[in-house]
Amino acid sequence: MLIGVPKEIKPQENRVGLTADSVKTLVSEGNELIIESCAGVGSGFTDEDYKNAGAKIYQTAQEIFDISELIIKVKEPQKQEVELLKKDQLLFTYLHLAANKELTVGLMNSGSTCIAYETVTDDNNRLPLLAPMSEVAGRISIQAGARSLEMTNNGRGILLSGATGAPPANVVIIGCGVVGFNAALIAHGMKANVILIDQSQDRLDELKTYFNNEVTAVISSPESIEANVKDCDLLIGGVLVPGAAAPKLVSEELVSKMKSGAVLVDVAIDQGGCIETSKPTTHADPIYLKHNVVHYCVTNMPGCVPRTSTISLNNATLPFISNLAQKGLSSALGSNKNFLNGLNVMSGKCTQQDVAKDLDLDFCKPDKLIA
Ligand SMILES: NC(=O)c1ccc[n+]([C@@H]2O[C@H](COP(=O)([O-])OP(=O)(O)OC[C@H]3O[C@@H](n4cnc5c(N)ncnc54)[C@H](O)[C@@H]3O)[C@@H](O)[C@H]2O)c1
Repeated sequence: MLIGVPKEIKPQENRVGLTADSVKTLVSEGNELIIESCAGVGSGFTDEDYKNAGAKIYQTAQEIFDISELIIKVKEPQKQEVELLKKDQLLFTYLHLAANKELTVGLMNSGSTCIAYETVTDDNNRLPLLAPMSEVAGRISIQAGARSLEMTNNGRGILLSGATGAPPANVVIIGCGVVGFNAALIAHGMKANVILIDQSQDRLDELKTYFNNEVTAVISSPESIEANVKDCDLLIGGVLVPGAAAPKLVSEELVSKMKSGAVLVDVAIDQGGCIETSKPTTHADPIYLKHNVVHYCVTNMPGCVPRTSTISLNNATLPFISNLAQKGLSSALGSNKNFLNGLNVMSGKCTQQDVAKDLDLDFCKPDKLIA
């Protein structure tokens, strides 16, 4: 298969769809690889590295989109990329469509076949291609939150760990999946006082055991969220309803009751955010103040550590890419229900039930199209 990798163009996005090692593997499996010049520089891969791995280097995204059968990216296509997509071309990348009707309709109109990393599942109903970036984002959330709590960044002037005679910060984490667990791991390691909120008692029990009862675990309800968020120094939003827009669990009224200079990091912002006052920000301008609460809502958090993120992401995506290139779309997705769950758009139709519901679009069962 002819596989193309354009350079990412989302602001401050330095990840790349394939590492040089992944290119080498795909070439050895009989595929032809084309990479846009400088696509990997931010992740530590030069054009020379890709050439040595067996790829050809093209100068523009247009050339890559013009001839590739399969496009591998990281972030959702930007407007000018949607315009380059062709009928029946395969696109495999993060899409996060439930929060973006314009993009969804653009992809449907392109006639391309779009598979989203974040809705591919495994046999335990987990999300193996979202997990590596959720791990990174969860870890960054505490780093970003700690910096935002500094007074020079409009924060409360609180050190997460506290200090001798001064108490640690209260960190509330809503949604304790991959993001939430990794945020807890770093916050606990930094000696903050960690409060976990999730709708799953089993998950809370599992994490309490993991952290030797050194964290507080609370079942999610409007009341428990209000009681804990009001008093926290740092709030992390990490909920997910797979495929759907994030539920708004923290209202604007509750944000207005938070302490002045408290910080919130809405990691779920790529699915629309789980806090009512959140709006997407970028690494160039990551924070804003609302009700005197510092909001950090960057939609591509792992993009600021591209060397770590690209390698970790490729580790998870490569087996799926190999499979797709070797078997072709119908066989690769038709023989694997988990991979089929990644299909979001095909033949002008929306094939993700939750996306269709959230965006008020007609839903088409994916197996109908693949068959
Ligand atoms: N901003 C970024 O750069 C970035 C990067 C990676 C992931 N994300 C996003 O982070 C979010 C979390 O991803 P994840 O991989 O941790 O998901 P996950 O499925 O592993 O975890 C989600 C958790 O939310 C919990 N949850 C769902 N509804 C809830 C409710 N009403 N109250 C409390 N808990 C609830 C679930 O029980 C689950 O434990 C997703 O929206 C994902 O897209 C963002």
